[in-house]
Amino acid sequence: MTKKVFIKTYGCQMNVYDSARMAEALAPAGFAETDDMADAELIVLNTCHIREKASEKVYSELGRLRVLQAERAAAGKETRVAVAGCVAQAEGAEIMARASVVDVVVGPQSYHRIAELAEGAFAGRRALETEFPADDGKFAALPARPLSKRPPAAFLTIQEGCDKFCTFCVVPYTRGAESSRPPSHILAEARRLAASGVREVTVLGQNVNAYHGVEDGQTWSLARLLGALADIPEIERLRYTTSHPADMDDDLIAAHRDLPQLMPYLHLPVQSGSDRILRAMNRKHTADHYLRLIDGIRAARPDIALSTDIIVGFPGETDQDFGDTMRLVGEVGYAQAYSFKYSERPGTPAADLDDQVADAVKTERLAALQEALNAQQAAFNTACVGRRLPVLFERAGRNEGQIVGRSPYLQGVHAEGSPALIGAVVECDITAASRNSLSGVIKSWNGDASVAPMREIHGRL
Ligand code: SAH
Ligand code: SF4
Ligand code: F3S
Repeated sequence: MTKKVFIKTYGCQMNVYDSARMAEALAPAGFAETDDMADAELIVLNTCHIREKASEKVYSELGRLRVLQAERAAAGKETRVAVAGCVAQAEGAEIMARASVVDVVVGPQSYHRIAELAEGAFAGRRALETEFPADDGKFAALPARPLSKRPPAAFLTIQEGCDKFCTFCVVPYTRGAESSRPPSHILAEARRLAASGVREVTVLGQNVNAYHGVEDGQTWSLARLLGALADIPEIERLRYTTSHPADMDDDLIAAHRDLPQLMPYLHLPVQSGSDRILRAMNRKHTADHYLRLIDGIRAARPDIALSTDIIVGFPGETDQDFGDTMRLVGEVGYAQAYSFKYSERPGTPAADLDDQVADAVKTERLAALQEALNAQQAAFNTACVGRRLPVLFERAGRNEGQIVGRSPYLQGVHAEGSPALIGAVVECDITAASRNSLSGVIKSWNGDASVAPMREIHGRL
């Protein structure tokens, strides 16, 4: 008998990818995905531990699930709850002890066991599975993606875990040591994605440019892997995230010049503009090193759109340190960015530092920083008005007759157009910009939606 599963995803793109893989692993065991939580026999929360607020969301959701479970039980329906992801990894035993509504806790390295654990839960067995297997078990044992039609843009995890140990960050503890999938596995998965309609692949890793997959005794860099992915004819666009400045090598920078499929967009977290704070964060780069990298990347690809992550209020951050961050932001000119108040994470070295910054100060600095970043983003978007950009249309828009896609610079673009264009890269004249997205008019299009002439278009960018 089929049961329904509802998967709720928090956190980063890695979790989005993992949720899709969990759904695929559960399907052969008779679990069909639903987007109605109240209708599901199995509810999976794929959680994020990165900041305090992210973790707290899980506990409040578990409170609501207790009520939902009781309501469903009153109607004679069973409900089982699984907690996956980074909170499961970090606080699994505590969740099992405290939250009786939870039947299964499963860490990010054990998703190949999700179906078995879920079936056990329906047979009355609670389980906690947060081991880090020694081999690459998780990916190897997950079933191959079926060839059903997929949306045109997909994530593909190529590397997981992190050995950088930034002093504020939980990822090295929740995702474990850095490990890279073999190139042949990645290329096979990319070909399957391409055959199911995918035209844009974003390769993922917590530290993606530290990629060092081994094939036939040879170690591949990210640049080499991107080159091989670009040889898959249907894949028109490539992106990668998230990179660390210390691993941004010359080959990868050259790929931004040489690979037309590699989109002119780079998310390169800087975290702070103050060398003193960068050292305390164990970031392994200075502000100057970062700025020189940006110069090199812009020399390779002058129109590249840059994005970043910034933390304000790291322990010991003074007004002067924050001023250095504002100056760096001014110097780089970001197309978009994410910024956060420092959040103390249990078990990380920075949580033990004495000179924590008052919340009111963090709030003030974050507001000033976001004002500057928002202005840069608006300026970048406005500068696109009047340009003709190739847009990969991904889905129907909210309004009748509207379709939505992405520019090379990852901006959302809305246009009036036929749904037949979804999956095609089409040239659009950009007519208006807001802080978050663009509006465009589709240039006359007589082509076949399944063939996207990205290579030709690239030359005219
Ligand atoms: N692997 C990626 C993503 C890490 S998490 C990377 O290296 O960039 C995404 C962002 O969350 C980080 O870049 C950082 O800016 C932010 N972050 C991580 N830990 C944090 C903490 N304790 N408090 C506030 N922000 C944090
Ligand atoms: Fe966290 Fe730093 Fe690793 Fe990014 S590089 S995942 S911020 S430890
Ligand atoms: Fe969150 Fe884990 Fe991703 S902590 S940001 S879900 S790696």
